[in-house]
Amino acid sequence: MTLTVIDRNGTERTVTAEPGMSVMEILREQGFDDLQALCGGCCSCATCHVYVDGSAAGLLPPVGPDENDLLDSSAHRTGASRLSCQLRYQPELAGLTITIAPED
Ligand code: FES
Repeated sequence: MTLTVIDRNGTERTVTAEPGMSVMEILREQGFDDLQALCGGCCSCATCHVYVDGSAAGLLPPVGPDENDLLDSSAHRTGASRLSCQLRYQPELAGLTITIAPED
């Protein structure tokens, strides 16, 4: 299964994604170093901020309270914002497009 990623330079790349991993883990494993993910997925840093293709919004879990608070601290939050460490990659998300949000 695949995931399409647009990095901070606007470069688009499609990568292979393993179900069960978080989207953050997939991005890090695939070498997208502009996604820092400083807390390692503990939902405490917001440096894994991404924008998710709107067509997939209904397939994602709701934004949790901690995730919501962290996203609120970002000047770049939009309706498409999620913390990628909080998104588990599932087969129904195959073909999803993720854009790495600008750095705060
Ligand atoms: Fe820190 Fe996602 S990696 S909040």
